[in-house]
Amino acid sequence: PYLNSLISQDCETPQLNPVMEPLSWMLGTWLSDPPGDGTFPTMKPFQYLEEVHISHVGQPMLNFSFNAFHPDTRKPMHRECGFIRLKPDTNKVAFISAQNTGLVEVEEGEVNGQELSIASHSIARISFAKKPHVEQITRKFRLNSDGKLEQTVSMATTTQPMTQHLHITYKKV
Ligand code: HEM
Repeated sequence: PYLNSLISQDCETPQLNPVMEPLSWMLGTWLSDPPGDGTFPTMKPFQYLEEVHISHVGQPMLNFSFNAFHPDTRKPMHRECGFIRLKPDTNKVAFISAQNTGLVEVEEGEVNGQELSIASHSIARISFAKKPHVEQITRKFRLNSDGKLEQTVSMATTTQPMTQHLHITYKKV
């Protein structure tokens, strides 16, 4: 909070770095609406709530956090946070994420209009990460015409080919 308050003292709300303009549609606080759908061949379908913060401090990158909760008990579940970078003067995007499951990953892809498609480029994990291990991840983010943000995540594990794991829409709060 100390360093962030220094930023806000200097300039009320830092101006969005022009490099990040193509991703400005992702900025804001978002809440799942309706709850997200989790699927995978090895598990029974489940639902989850998720709160998302996507912000910036004027640097040529976005900061993000995704925090999932159990829809009934509200117990915290999956959490991840990181940064989104754009290669200046291109539509090439890098998505860097640390997850509470012990996974750290880099995804790369492209933004086209209000749609971002990315795929894992490298994945690292703690030595005692739960099995099966994820081998590949793809995500799509899209701002829909009704102003809702949508995320779809697919993954391949050591036991299953690329299959959808998550689908969720968020409304801005
Ligand atoms: C299971 C990966 C996000 C909820 C799993 C499994 C993997 C995985 C590898 C085990 C699959 C199997 O047993 O065959 C990921 C990755 C994510 C992600 C890479 C993000 C990129 C989430 C989110 C939720 C979630 C946001 C929301 C609550 C679950 C649940 C299970 C599961 C409930 C089954 C129980 C368990 O193994 O803990 N996930 N997951 N996951 N995931 Fe995710």
